[in-house]
Amino acid sequence: MACCWTDMLLYSFLAYLVVQLVRLIFADADLNVLWKEKFGKRPDTLKGQVVWITGSSSGIGEYLAYELAKAGCKLVLSARRIKELERVKKQCLIYGPISDEDILVTSLDVADLSSQERAVEVIISHFGQVDILVNNAGRSQRAMICDTSIEVDQEMINLNVVGQISLTKAILPHMRKRKTGHIVVTSSLAGLMGAPFSASYALTKFALHGWFESLRFEGFSENIKVTMICPGPVFSNLLKNCFTGQKGQVQMGSNEKRVTTQRCAALMATAIANQMDEVWITRQPLLLLTYFAQYFPSICRWFVTFMFFVCLFVCLFV
Ligand SMILES: NC(=O)c1ccc[n+]([C@@H]2O[C@H](COP(=O)([O-])OP(=O)(O)OC[C@H]3O[C@@H](n4cnc5c(N)ncnc54)[C@H](OP(=O)(O)O)[C@@H]3O)[C@@H](O)[C@H]2O)c1
Repeated sequence: MACCWTDMLLYSFLAYLVVQLVRLIFADADLNVLWKEKFGKRPDTLKGQVVWITGSSSGIGEYLAYELAKAGCKLVLSARRIKELERVKKQCLIYGPISDEDILVTSLDVADLSSQERAVEVIISHFGQVDILVNNAGRSQRAMICDTSIEVDQEMINLNVVGQISLTKAILPHMRKRKTGHIVVTSSLAGLMGAPFSASYALTKFALHGWFESLRFEGFSENIKVTMICPGPVFSNLLKNCFTGQKGQVQMGSNEKRVTTQRCAALMATAIANQMDEVWITRQPLLLLTYFAQYFPSICRWFVTFMFFVCLFVCLFV
């Protein structure tokens, strides 16, 4: 009889492993967020909350605005291009059960720290509160370290890091006063593992994890939640606008084999509704590599180094 029970346990465990493996093969995000998508809180549980999305004039921020508009959230849309923000606002009004005064469009250059306090004042006087801040604005970079000037590193850090933490510091006192708040950060898989040709970008995304993971602990007693979103390649304008090695240069990139912007935004909305700590959004084989980076970092490093040299060889000799 005892033998029968241990056999059953063993077979159940093997069946569980097979199910997880099949889920992993077809997954486009980590298994935790896919589970929450099916069985967790739905984005419409966020209905009525005020969500500020930086960098919502295009790409991931734009599509997140659509998902949250559908969920009935009140929105603050900010970026530098007001005309694009107005276009996004119009679409949000079509998608969601919200009215004109539920969406505030405001121009904000995240790298211009002097304008942030004013932006916060305008938003608080309009809505009275911000429940969720999504630090999404950012730019990428593609170049070898040896070809990248220090000015590019500095500009990347100013926009992707200093801009985000300064804005968070500007909104935190309001959240602390209300003893509730949720900070969401659009990081990247490049914030979890180093990426050849994108060192400055990885530098900024790693830095975000250090700062916001610390905020997670410090904010615990005041009910301040932190969600780190780590997408892999997603369709957007990111590569069109990315830095190269020298200040002022931008590079056009290719956009194939990526998660759609809509899918990325839908998973982000699930992660926000469930106040998840960290989420990975990417297709295979990058998802598997991310699991290796997390649980078997040495194997991941070896593999990325190997692939880097294969790519170099192909570029140079094929
Ligand atoms: N697409 C991907 O593959 C991918 C992967 C991982 C992580 N991410 C992250 O996702 C976030 C959004 O990028 P995306 O892919 O959606 O690219 P995107 O389409 O280029 O969107 C970038 C957004 O950031 C805004 N922005 C840029 N510089 C700004 C500044 N100085 N001040 C305020 N807003 C600024 C842009 O608006 P304005 O130009 O109007 O200011 C735009 O709305 C970034 O943080 C990026 O690192 C993207």
